[in-house]
Amino acid sequence: MTTLEPVIEIKDVVKFYGGNAPVLDGVSFRVFRGETKIIIGASGSGKSTILKLILGLDKPDEGQIFIQGEDITKLNEQELVRVRQKIGMVFQESALFDSLTVRENVAYRLHERGEDEEEIEAKVRQSLGFVGLEDAIEKFPSELSGGMKRRVAIARALIGQPEIMLYDEPTAGLDPITSRKINELIIALRDIHAVTGVFVTHRMRDAFTLATEYATNGDQQIHFHHENNFVCIANTRFLMFRDGKIVFEGPDEVLRRSEDEYIKRFLA
Ligand SMILES: Nc1ncnc2c1ncn2[C@@H]1O[C@H](COP(=O)(O)OP(=O)(O)OP(=O)(O)O)[C@@H](O)[C@H]1O
Ligand SMILES: [Mg+2]
Repeated sequence: MTTLEPVIEIKDVVKFYGGNAPVLDGVSFRVFRGETKIIIGASGSGKSTILKLILGLDKPDEGQIFIQGEDITKLNEQELVRVRQKIGMVFQESALFDSLTVRENVAYRLHERGEDEEEIEAKVRQSLGFVGLEDAIEKFPSELSGGMKRRVAIARALIGQPEIMLYDEPTAGLDPITSRKINELIIALRDIHAVTGVFVTHRMRDAFTLATEYATNGDQQIHFHHENNFVCIANTRFLMFRDGKIVFEGPDEVLRRSEDEYIKRFLA
């Protein structure tokens, strides 16, 4: 794979769920390695649907979806399992298994793959370390706060070191400090680990944080910086969905200056 090939390519995708109007009506975009695409749009505009299609949990009625050059709309369920190994997904409501401990939740995918127990334990600890929750390893989801659950969900998504991460409203309902922590994790994955991401959100504040801050590695810890007057350092672009179509694609500077009435109302 050359670096110029997109990691994710959505091509003329149409998706109906019954009804006359499609939920997605000819959507096309590309996400390159180490880039994070932020999808914004009103409730019901098809944001979660596109993530579901990228994960192969559902198929489009028309169009193609390429993951690292492979059209996944042609694949059967067994082949999709292989593609999903490359993708970590943080669902809208964390979606942890309540009857499993944090350890078992995070390890789930590796158990499915039948990996060696000792290796699994090391990877679980590493993944929980990344989200700052090593101490919660024995706990059950019911014993965790909303923000901790979301971080466990991120640790679970990260466990196989996926090259692609999909985030569906990962900070919804969380306080500013916890949201900040989650945004920093996402920025670090993008900038330190070159993970390719799609981030769905309603919260413009989080979106602009991702679009204007970047991370560097130094002295055993990760540093976060603001672009300030330099533009487009943060490897993040916006997509805005409206009535199944993309009505904006570009960097935050352009989005902020848009004269489009709908976009202005959305950002207000
Ligand atoms: N499995 C399904 N069956 C029927 N309709 C569906 C299904 N999934 C989504 N829809 C419909 O598709 C539209 C888009 O849903 P989607 O969940 O993608 O919206 P969204 O942009 O993520 O909204 P929100 O911001 O509220 O999460 C909605 O009208 C929804 O009712
Ligand atoms: Mg949604």
